[in-house]
Amino acid sequence: MPSRPSIARLLAWYARHRRSLPWRAKPGEDADPYRVWLSEIMLQQTTVTAVIPYYERFLSLFPTVAALAAAEDGAVMAAWAGLGYYARARNLLACARAVVALGGFPSSVEGLRALPGIGDYTAAAVGAIAFGLPVIPVDGNVERVVSRLFAIETPLPAAKPAIRAGAALLAEDASAQAAPSDTAQALFDLGATLCTPTAPACALCPWETVCAAKRLGIAATLPRKAPKPERPRRHGAHFRLSDAAGQVLLRRRPPRGLLGGMIEIPGTAWRAEPWARPDALAEAPAQAEWVKWGVVRHVFTHFELWLDVYAAQLPVIPREAMGDGFLCPTEDLLAQALPSLMAKCLALSENTASPAHPVPSSDLLV
Ligand code: ADE
Repeated sequence: MPSRPSIARLLAWYARHRRSLPWRAKPGEDADPYRVWLSEIMLQQTTVTAVIPYYERFLSLFPTVAALAAAEDGAVMAAWAGLGYYARARNLLACARAVVALGGFPSSVEGLRALPGIGDYTAAAVGAIAFGLPVIPVDGNVERVVSRLFAIETPLPAAKPAIRAGAALLAEDASAQAAPSDTAQALFDLGATLCTPTAPACALCPWETVCAAKRLGIAATLPRKAPKPERPRRHGAHFRLSDAAGQVLLRRRPPRGLLGGMIEIPGTAWRAEPWARPDALAEAPAQAEWVKWGVVRHVFTHFELWLDVYAAQLPVIPREAMGDGFLCPTEDLLAQALPSLMAKCLALSENTASPAHPVPSSDLLV
């Protein structure tokens, strides 16, 4: 039996190689639960590099949990636009308001877990990093490190209980050394920089000699994954209608559901069957000379969406076309809470007044 992985060795490696990240407390500083929580919500499903500029802008707009709790919903959604998964932004605001009502972040895993938008992972991450609780948050990086360290060969997701058990062993030792916060962050960094998915740099790893997968020569193959079922495909059509002044017709999506509360150009329902042109145009906001500009493909967690994008211009947008929408000057589009799906649709249908080069309908913007 190899010796147990030494947390002290991991921490010594971390002291030398830790990444400098804007939400991270410097050595010797106390972590700010607001910053830790905000970064963890942003980092769900989004990479560190992509999150950094959003995080910095968000923090300058809402520097404290109280500032965020007091913000207008629309301002928060607009600052979030581009990060995707808008339910997270709605929960973020609900959580900030709950935290302010409680007088601060709870300092137990159970208390954190009870807040809106905080699941097991985020409760463990905030608990360990901000409050030093004896837990290890298991994200994709930590899953990879732990499955290799203990050579867990069961494919995911069935491997999760074994991985959690391995992480709990590490949490015990981290806690004995009063270092759950640095241990959690060291595991993130180890997974992100050395114990990478396809080409782990085992020679540089502080745990090279105790890693069971390295000993067996299978590190790069772990964690194994059960084959994924294919994502179902859905289809829709969306319409960019502008007037002679360059204003574009927009509307707000219903508050609940996918992209809830975000801004979009009007469109059809998204359904399993593709929309033939006449059926799509019957749903357009107005009769006009619609030009098909192209197709946008967007991947959501549970399905893939293919949207036909049509564009037209009318001298004036008739009242009956407005519905509960509103007009937005083209130059103000970026300030709207547009999900990236809609940013793709608008990029495709820019400059529609005199389409010199319509995009062939086979062109995909992915
Ligand atoms: N991945 C998830 N949480 C993280 C964090 N706090 N720092 C770096 N990577 C992370």
